[in-house]
Amino acid sequence: MSAQESAPHSSQRIGVVAESAPGETRVAATPSTVRQLLGLGYQVVVESGAGAASGFGDQTYLDAGAEVGVAWDADLVLKVNPPSDAEITRLRQGATVVALLAPAQTPELLTALARAGVTALALDAVPRISRAQSMDVLSSMANIAGYRAVVEAAHVFGRFFTGQVTAAGKVPPAKVLVAGAGVAGLAAIGTASSLGAVVRATDPRPEVADQVTSLGGEYLPVDVAQEASADGYAKATSEDYDRAAAELYHRQAQDVDIVITTALIPGRPAPRLLSAADVAVMKPGSVIVDMAAAQGGNVEGTVPGRAVVTDNGVTIIGYTDLAARLPAQASQLFGTNLANLLKLVTPGRDGRAVIDFDDVVQRAVTVVRDGEITWPPPPVPVSAAPAAPPPQAAAAPEREEPRLTPARRFGLIGLGMVALFLLVAFAPAQLAGNFTVFALAVVIGHYVIGKVHHALHTPLMSVTNAISGIVVIGALLQIGHESRIVTVLSCVAILLTSVNIFGGFAVTRRMLSMFSKG
Ligand code: NAI
Repeated sequence: MSAQESAPHSSQRIGVVAESAPGETRVAATPSTVRQLLGLGYQVVVESGAGAASGFGDQTYLDAGAEVGVAWDADLVLKVNPPSDAEITRLRQGATVVALLAPAQTPELLTALARAGVTALALDAVPRISRAQSMDVLSSMANIAGYRAVVEAAHVFGRFFTGQVTAAGKVPPAKVLVAGAGVAGLAAIGTASSLGAVVRATDPRPEVADQVTSLGGEYLPVDVAQEASADGYAKATSEDYDRAAAELYHRQAQDVDIVITTALIPGRPAPRLLSAADVAVMKPGSVIVDMAAAQGGNVEGTVPGRAVVTDNGVTIIGYTDLAARLPAQASQLFGTNLANLLKLVTPGRDGRAVIDFDDVVQRAVTVVRDGEITWPPPPVPVSAAPAAPPPQAAAAPEREEPRLTPARRFGLIGLGMVALFLLVAFAPAQLAGNFTVFALAVVIGHYVIGKVHHALHTPLMSVTNAISGIVVIGALLQIGHESRIVTVLSCVAILLTSVNIFGGFAVTRRMLSMFSKG
């Protein structure tokens, strides 16, 4: 009997159990996500001490409305890590267990769960499609882990990330190379650049270049064409690519202080990016964080779960629990992703889970249903592929003429000079003077504004808008004019100019508030 078939007249009980894996600090529900589960109509029981390592004591769960007690006999058991054999025996038949289950890597776990007659939802099988983002535990954890990787590196590096010029001398900025610009890589790039480091990143998917740049990094391309990915995920790289990338890594290894590797191709062992020879040319005191340590490592010499120091003084960090090193927030995001999944399988908000196999997300996460293995699911069509270049851009370039040939440019300049000459010669003196000021203003404006970063154009415009305040002064002087029309026009001018000035400042204020903390 499945969880959804049991006790048809009452709401189901969710059990939040304590983690038994050594070093695990996370918990599958926090007091705030417990409130969300209660809001879905479930009863919630939390095992005593389950949230202690994340800083959530039993009392905080009681305050949120949960019970504290035996959680393993619940209808739905929520966990972070896969249940051990001993824990599987504690699940009651027909229960549903929700956890990270690594279904592709641990077929024996699926067999044990099927034998126990339970339903199992694997949080790490959530497809990476937009609709499922709010349930994507792997992305949430990779984001935290990417941040923490930089913190670990900074701690071991023991020097400034940012460059400084002080009375006591100059400190150069740290140089950081991030290999693989997926979720973890982008988080690492953003963190390292916000600490002031010079950040470079590479990835076989050229479409990430803009994301790297927007986070303050420099994208290092490997100039070997890669087969385009149909689903937005990286494909295994070609031999030519690997050869060119190896040269890039060797060159960078001699220059950078910190390397963070996050390269992963779904369903494969981690690609080897840095060899022992690359590590050997790094400066003493440099740090490598190999985030793919658990999948075999991107770096030769990585030891999963440990930090090792090489003969030339390079520390290679292979921690596999980076997200769990920020336990409160990791639990909060994990719990929220899980609550969102339960929201999906509780359409009636009545505390009863109903798994709908016609829904791609629910189908993908259900790896065992009522004692029957349902992994792997049919492939999920995703549309994360990079946009195809516009047809004219793909077809034209070779025969396209330069936009302005030198002959045309000189022709235009000549025409402009003749027009200027005629204007100065025949127009009234005052117009010629005004025109000269106008032309100079255009040239100076072009060079000044051209040097201002695009992001600052809005505040710049509001300042230049304020110059139109001169119109207000003119209009105020005219407002008492004997002609009614002049007075009305002056009022209109004051109104429009005020809208221009105050509107500009309001927009700027709104824009700047996006950058202010809190
Ligand atoms: P992701 O799939 O979002 O990103 C992986 C990136 O690697 C992709 O952008 C891909 O294009 C790139 N890549 C593939 N082959 C490459 C190659 N040969 N060279 C350079 N880049 C290549 O994965 P996500 O979520 O960012 O995770 C990254 C890694 O971090 C995974 O191995 C994951 O298991 C690990 N991870 C580690 C944690 C820890 O505690 N150590 C915690 C969370 C994640």
